Amino acid sequence: MDLQLKDGWIEVISGSMYAGKTEELLRRLRRIQYAKKTYLVFKPKIDQRYSIEEIVSHNNSKQKSIIIQHASEIEPYVKEAHPYAVAIDEVQFFDRDIIDVCERLADQGIRVIVAGLDRDFRGEPFGVMPDLLCRAEYVTKLNAICQVCGAPATRTQRIIDGKPAHYTDPIILVGAKEQYEARCRHCHIVPGKNDNH
Ligand code: TMP
Ligand code: MG
Ligand code: ZN
Repeated sequence: MDLQLKDGWIEVISGSMYAGKTEELLRRLRRIQYAKKTYLVFKPKIDQRYSIEEIVSHNNSKQKSIIIQHASEIEPYVKEAHPYAVAIDEVQFFDRDIIDVCERLADQGIRVIVAGLDRDFRGEPFGVMPDLLCRAEYVTKLNAICQVCGAPATRTQRIIDGKPAHYTDPIILVGAKEQYEARCRHCHIVPGKNDNH
């Protein structure tokens, strides 16, 4: 039997906004650099909040990245570069093909590190995240701090014109401090959800 350990697995970093997901992704990439291994970083075109070519955490750490629109654009880059790791930030915005792409890369021996929101502003599972969380070998859930009560925050509150966004509002709205706050379960308000407001 071959007892040599093989590389190739999926790591998911998830949690609410301001939990430090991108920070954690960048920390893992720094460690890969220290080990003199190579990586490619991707992010979806939809997110151009702070920069077009870099992934940027809320506290302004940065990393050059390849901007793509569809999951199918990842594998050609990987075939060309043969990286040790592939990192994807804001993975919640990708189409469902991202699931098979991550699986195939991991099967080929690549360390796949993805970061994304586990819930949307309504507190519901975000797009492909439930599938990725289920398929990952390693899952890290990070908390932020509730901006109302100071408890650990697991949710993201969307605020439009000073009021909580309604359950039926569109799911995708790129933004940061102007529209979104970190909140705990008890301080998170979604008018129209379960008719509780
Ligand atoms: P972050 O996780 O790096 O803070 O970024 C999350 C991005 O997702 C940010 O651009 C806002 C966006 N977003 C949505 O489009 N819909 C949502 O329901 C939430 C909570 C965030
Ligand atoms: Mg981020
Ligand atoms: Zn709270």
